[in-house]
Amino acid sequence: MISRVRGTRDILDLKLFNFALQTIKHYVALYHFKQIETPVLEPVELFKRSLGLETDVVSKEMFVVTSSSVEQGEESIALRPEATAATIRAFLEGSIDQVPWKVFSFGPMFRYERPQKGRYRQFYQFNIECIGAASLTQDAQIIAMLDRLFLTQFNLDNYALHINFLGTSQERAHFKATLKLFLDKQTDLCATCLKRKEANILRVFDCKTPVCQNIYTKAPQLLDCLEQESQQEWKTLQEQLKLLSVSFVVNPRLVRGLDYYNKTVFEFVSPDLGAQSAFCGGGRYDSLVSQIGGKVDQPSIGAAIGFDRLLLLLEMISNKLPLPQEPALHVIIPFEGQHSLALLLADTLIKAGLQTEVLCQGSVKTMMSKAHKKGAAYCLILGEQEQQDGTVVIKDMVKGTQETVKQIQAVSVLINR
Ligand code: HAM
Repeated sequence: MISRVRGTRDILDLKLFNFALQTIKHYVALYHFKQIETPVLEPVELFKRSLGLETDVVSKEMFVVTSSSVEQGEESIALRPEATAATIRAFLEGSIDQVPWKVFSFGPMFRYERPQKGRYRQFYQFNIECIGAASLTQDAQIIAMLDRLFLTQFNLDNYALHINFLGTSQERAHFKATLKLFLDKQTDLCATCLKRKEANILRVFDCKTPVCQNIYTKAPQLLDCLEQESQQEWKTLQEQLKLLSVSFVVNPRLVRGLDYYNKTVFEFVSPDLGAQSAFCGGGRYDSLVSQIGGKVDQPSIGAAIGFDRLLLLLEMISNKLPLPQEPALHVIIPFEGQHSLALLLADTLIKAGLQTEVLCQGSVKTMMSKAHKKGAAYCLILGEQEQQDGTVVIKDMVKGTQETVKQIQAVSVLINR
């Protein structure tokens, strides 16, 4: 047998998946986000330029396909690891001039990570972006929208919202210098952190090593390097969240794993997920548009819901969720020689909007037991007698009763049940 690729998974029952997806789509539409689609394949350069060369995603997790041809030379294509950079590319390539451009997309992302619970190499993100929105009031609304979605639409209650403020690039430059002085005095940093200290110092906070984590609890904080304007924005953001009754925790070490963020960053985390506790993350990125090649910068804010992790949380409470009821299943069971009549009857039922399946293999007894296992509400049995009389036997699989009705009346009998 050939097994699936490590870190990927098959989803064989999409009931919860579709419920969650529809719920999110419906909810974000209330905030006037419109759906877009971008390709799974993007130029490697797009992610190198936007996410940062020293990020885990770019330095070690990208799935890259290299193709070469005489005419076009060598081309490096990535299976997208995230959707923000591609959304900005689409914004620029589509010459969108109406801002804020409020869009969402859904689809698979790819990262070559060590697989574990809630961490896959192919996973789904529901991605939301608001491009061309300088006011942090948009940040407050997007964070509140996500919180409301989790709390009121999915009834999740065991999670926390972590927020932090990364300031402007000047403030970060000041902080980086202060942090460097502190880290230069540390003797126990791991090899990766030593490298990151020189190459891209904020990324040291992504380190999961307990020794490094412990050192960073005593490190200087970015929030202490904010100037007056940022301090005011940070204060207003917190006030607006409180105004909207959004509970949050300030996490001064939250820097997120990607380089494009400034000012607001946030993550929704749940202890129910174990080590991979973040099921949604996002933040503000004010310079990404120009980094990707736009002439005019467009301050923006966005987030991605880790859909697989959200599903893990929803599975735990699925009995409390208003999952849509499956429609009644009608199974047609023809005797030998009645297969064409079964096809015709199925055609009529389906045209009338009734979910119908025809079984045509095995004895009537075997087919009845298969229908039972499929959860059929009704079996429609067609024998030689029924063919001659123009009738069909309808068996109610729940009550165990049965009646013979005219074939032409079968639809109206079933619809009125
Ligand atoms: P991210 O934090 O890298 O942000 O990913 C967002 C979410 O995707 C994570 O919180 C997590 O739930 C899920 N996720 C990430 N990696 C995996 C994985 N290997 N397996 C399963 N789930 C995973 C971004 O991707 C940003 N583009 C979000 C954003 C949008 N920021 C602004 N706009």
